[in-house]
Amino acid sequence: MDKFVLHGGKPLHGTIPISGAKNSTLALMPAALLASGVFRLRNTPALRDVNTMSSLLKTMGVRARLADHVLTLDTSGVDRQEAPYEHVKKMRASIYVLGPLLARHGRAKVSLPGGCAWGPRPVNLHIEGMRKLGAAIELKRGYIHAKADRLKGARISFDVSSVGATGNVMMAAVLARGTSVIENAAIEPEITQLAQFLQAMGARIDGVGTNRLEIEGVDGLHPADVDTIPDRIEAGTFLVAGAITGGTVTVAGANPEHLAAVLARLEDAGCTLTVEPGRITLAAPAKLKPVDVTASIYPGFPTDMQAQWIALMSVAAGTSVVTDTIYFDRFKHVPELMRLGADVEVKENAAVVRGVPNLTGATVMSTDLRASASLILAGLIAEGETEVLRVYHIDRGYEAIERKLQALGADIQRVSHQEF
Ligand code: UD1
Repeated sequence: MDKFVLHGGKPLHGTIPISGAKNSTLALMPAALLASGVFRLRNTPALRDVNTMSSLLKTMGVRARLADHVLTLDTSGVDRQEAPYEHVKKMRASIYVLGPLLARHGRAKVSLPGGCAWGPRPVNLHIEGMRKLGAAIELKRGYIHAKADRLKGARISFDVSSVGATGNVMMAAVLARGTSVIENAAIEPEITQLAQFLQAMGARIDGVGTNRLEIEGVDGLHPADVDTIPDRIEAGTFLVAGAITGGTVTVAGANPEHLAAVLARLEDAGCTLTVEPGRITLAAPAKLKPVDVTASIYPGFPTDMQAQWIALMSVAAGTSVVTDTIYFDRFKHVPELMRLGADVEVKENAAVVRGVPNLTGATVMSTDLRASASLILAGLIAEGETEVLRVYHIDRGYEAIERKLQALGADIQRVSHQEF
């Protein structure tokens, strides 16, 4: 396992390119299972999670090749409809194969994902959605066994807005017989992109970008190509890197519309933002102001930026409250940030962050992807040396983060296992 070694205190300056969105790619790849042929996913990020999804699809007979950020998927040889535990336990998004396999092949066997580092993450909405579409589902020995001769259109109204369940049920419904309506559908940009990709494959979907999707099932779909949208969380993380270090950072190739809530809160914190088409420049203030945020569904502040915001607020001039309404237990980064000198108290699903004048370097351990990002952000300003262990989490979702940070002037090195 690699680690990062940082020496904090350097303001970051410069421009970095934003990669394609992880969470789009992880939905677009399984969507290719809905038709036979060759698909090209351009602007695919080179990430560990994308690798995991590729190897899962390969076990089903898909041929996958990533070169120069173009992922080519050939689904003409799909002959196995199973997602084994060893893949699903590495990455929960593996559950996305359930809908496409069931819709196109009439059967799927997908491991139940279980919990994750910060608590339970159920898949009941995915299962209920498939049942509504007429699938027979049994849960046996840790697996979802799903069968259906042909799915039938249905009305599905989600109690909770879920990105994954919306994507999965939409992928199943596009090949069902008749009309489906998904109410309280997620409207995250990655779901909108998935819907547009399905439309390009021949699916009939109305209400794209709204929380009511109406889907007229078709008998068959054809391959399509797609340009993956930029990763809004990667862009947000680099803007926070500029803000926390007192620097000036431009993210190029980002979509400002997808980041509206984050940009508004950064302005509230005293940052100056210059928004141009496809580019955002942040200039940090002399001292950050404390700003409360509440992570909620899109277009609210993303839960995937909550950990980074706590890192930022840990050095603001005053106290702020960071609340997460999506994942109530997602605060495993807090004790690690406290090892760097942050003053944070977690009360139920909120963190009370009392800004301190400075952080100090220490060895910390990351527990999940966004927690890792928050520790790296804190390490960028902590006095002295910070070691962030278990960085494989960061490789799941940030392409070459240390090289991008180095290009902005950060003192960060990856030390591979053999060297320590
Ligand atoms: C996706 C993102 C993840 C992000 C999350 C919330 C991907 C690959 N991952 O995860 O980065 O943090 O959205 O924006 O896109 N829920 C249920 N039952 C279900 C499914 C979800 O109760 O069957 C609940 C969850 O526990 C959570 C809420 O719904 O409280 C939202 O989760 P969801 O949107 O489904 O997250 P994911 O799709 O897993």
